[in-house]
Amino acid sequence: MARPRVFVTRRIPAAGLDRIVSACEAEVWQEPLPPPYDVLREKVRDCDGLVSLLTDQIDAALMDAAPKLKVISNFAVGFNNIDVGAATTRGICVGNTPGALTDATADLAFALLLAAARRVVDGVLDAKQGRWKTWEPLGYLGVDLAGKTLGIIGMGRIGFAMAQRGRGGWGMKVLYFDERPNDKAEAELGARRVDLDTLLRESDFVSLHASLTNTSKGMMGAKQFALMKSTAVFINTARGPLVDQAALVEALKTGKIFAAGLDVTDPEPPDPNDPILHLPNCVVAPHIASATHTTRNGMAEICADNLLAGVAGQPLRAWVNPEVAERRRV
Ligand code: DGY
Repeated sequence: MARPRVFVTRRIPAAGLDRIVSACEAEVWQEPLPPPYDVLREKVRDCDGLVSLLTDQIDAALMDAAPKLKVISNFAVGFNNIDVGAATTRGICVGNTPGALTDATADLAFALLLAAARRVVDGVLDAKQGRWKTWEPLGYLGVDLAGKTLGIIGMGRIGFAMAQRGRGGWGMKVLYFDERPNDKAEAELGARRVDLDTLLRESDFVSLHASLTNTSKGMMGAKQFALMKSTAVFINTARGPLVDQAALVEALKTGKIFAAGLDVTDPEPPDPNDPILHLPNCVVAPHIASATHTTRNGMAEICADNLLAGVAGQPLRAWVNPEVAERRRV
């Protein structure tokens, strides 16, 4: 029997890739940058399966160019790069990689929180670049963490893991904003569910863990930053477009908030002249929250499971659109 044809838009860890390559007629994009959209559309033309990354735009037109496509397995937990509605309409299964990156992402969110709160990056740059002249009683003053209030926007897996770190490590009080109550967070962490304005007004640290959708896009803008404390630190490890970046730059420049730590920006990467990269009170990382060996291996395993189940007509391990089951392509 012919092996399924699949296209993989980048080399992913062997923990998943080796299984894909041995079970399928696989083409793996070898370049360091993503395939351009038109190239990708051409590559998937005869494919049964596609492994995509968050940098690949998978829209209805691309799906229409791939009449045999049965499954799109995204190597990420977020899937805002895929038009899931269009996939479902066309009978295409979509998979993602939840769970594998929860701890790594919460760890990086906390690393950014500490770095921004304690001015680690501007201090380190001064030390390395010869601007460290003496010990200064009034130099590099940051903000404390112990006993402060941590506001979590989006109490899903990663939001919960972030709250756990704040509560367990620094005795923080936890507030959260989410459309659904999280009983576990309330019982185990004493978290209190509040509206977004209350969270922004009362929190010393605000960490964003929402999914990017048409409604959440730009949810943090000038009005929201104006509500925050002038001593507050804002963290985003979710998606850049959740934030109005110009408004964030303004809030950081004018001291409306104390600092920010970002693993995601809009766009990615930002133009080298983008002000977000040049503010001393903004720590920017290059979207590395899931970048540990164990985490990326775990993501690769789930991604391969989803792809192989999708081409075989089986239920996906992590299925974004299970409602497609009744009319999936075979
Ligand atoms: C995701 O998985 O959505 C992260 O942003 C990258 O690992």
